[in-house]
Amino acid sequence: MEKYVIEGGNPLVGEVEIGGAKNAALAILAASIMTDETVTIENVPDVRDTNVMMQAMESIGANIIKVDRHTFKINGARIHNQVILNEGIKKIRASYYLIGALLGKYKNAEVPLPGGCNLGTRAIDQHIKGFRSLGATVNVRHGSVIAHAQNLKGSHIFMDKVSVGATINVIMAAVMAEGKTVIENAAKEPHVVDLANFLNSMGANIKGAGTDVIRISGVPKLHKSEYAIIPDQIEAGTYLMAAAATQGDITVRNVIPKHLECIYAKLSEIGCRVEESDDAVRVIATGRLGNTQVKTLPYPGFPTDMQPQMTVTLGISQGISIVTESIFDNRFKYVDELARMGSDIKVEGNTAIITGVERYTGAEIDAPDLRAGAALVIAALSAEGRSVVTDIQYIQRGYEDFHLKLQKLGGNIRLVDEPEETDLFYRDPAFSVVVS
Ligand code: EPZ
Repeated sequence: MEKYVIEGGNPLVGEVEIGGAKNAALAILAASIMTDETVTIENVPDVRDTNVMMQAMESIGANIIKVDRHTFKINGARIHNQVILNEGIKKIRASYYLIGALLGKYKNAEVPLPGGCNLGTRAIDQHIKGFRSLGATVNVRHGSVIAHAQNLKGSHIFMDKVSVGATINVIMAAVMAEGKTVIENAAKEPHVVDLANFLNSMGANIKGAGTDVIRISGVPKLHKSEYAIIPDQIEAGTYLMAAAATQGDITVRNVIPKHLECIYAKLSEIGCRVEESDDAVRVIATGRLGNTQVKTLPYPGFPTDMQPQMTVTLGISQGISIVTESIFDNRFKYVDELARMGSDIKVEGNTAIITGVERYTGAEIDAPDLRAGAALVIAALSAEGRSVVTDIQYIQRGYEDFHLKLQKLGGNIRLVDEPEETDLFYRDPAFSVVVS
């Protein structure tokens, strides 16, 4: 199994190019099969989740040509059935986007129930409510969601909970439904807007994405398009947080600074210097940072996907900080791992009470999920001594070339394969087998 071996203590300094947004890419890839014409998608991040999604699409007949590492030509004309049997798809949350895409185009879909990061209860009742409201019959049988309709008809849907996934799924199911659909209490995340822009570039008629009321007028069919996915807000935020935690100076390039405001506002509050230009944000941290209170909220609030990275940073800042998780009910699992590095954090329900310690100390730690895994790597990079981070397959689901980008910033991090090789690395780095 691959692991990261990290020698902490170097401030991370330099520039890093941010890739396409994973969560936008997953929705856009699924939506690309909604036309029989060829769609070209650029800026697709080369991460495990996007690759699993494309394998599942190929398993039902989509033709996918890789033009370069981040560009794909996708043609859904030869999709021969709407039953996804691909085993890998169960492991990713975004498998559910294939329900909206297939139901929207073929009025029929059978997709295994989503997996993904274990962050607590992750219901899909709002997706099902939306599909039913458009006229579909939806059942969950033998681990799959089975959705079918004779005809989909526009409808007025009020989401009981702000949900990124349900908003995106209902948009996809509604774009070719007869008449008008209104989604109220819609999610406003940048990837919802990106998906709507993509579908509009294919001839859909979606208005209001980015606000909490989205209006869709059904069109008979969609056509070809060339589209570039937006930069990844969370990948960029993770590197900005790494600058703060290691008392470094990092510029993230190829970003939309507006999407990062909710993140860097907190960094500025705890004492970082923040500089913003057209497509870059720089965070400079000199000395130990201060404390604050953070509550995760739907966009434009502080993102839940940045909560572990923020907590890790506050864990070595001065004073007592409070972090409240209001989106998921089990997103503090990594705190036990961080305790092994000397943190002083108490979790009560959905709130973490953080007493900043001077420094973390290196330890062997497990990545419990994608963002928590990235946060623990940041902790290890800031720590005194050596850490080994295991279960990094979670991190690879969402960060392209994570260790390579961190190396470029001066981080002493290596990807090492096999337990024996890690042991050798421990005894004498000269004998280790370092993959890259
Ligand atoms: C998306 O998950 C992202 N995943 C998550 O990113 C992100 O954490 C989350 O949105 C919140 O921003 C993808 O885009 C693939 P939700 P999703 O539906 O769509 C409840 C990452 O690290 N809910 O907005 O599953 C739900 O339980 C990942 O990249 C219902 O009750 O999130 C949660 O408490 C992890 N019923 C809240 O809403 C529903 O039908 C928000 O979930 C749907 C959701």
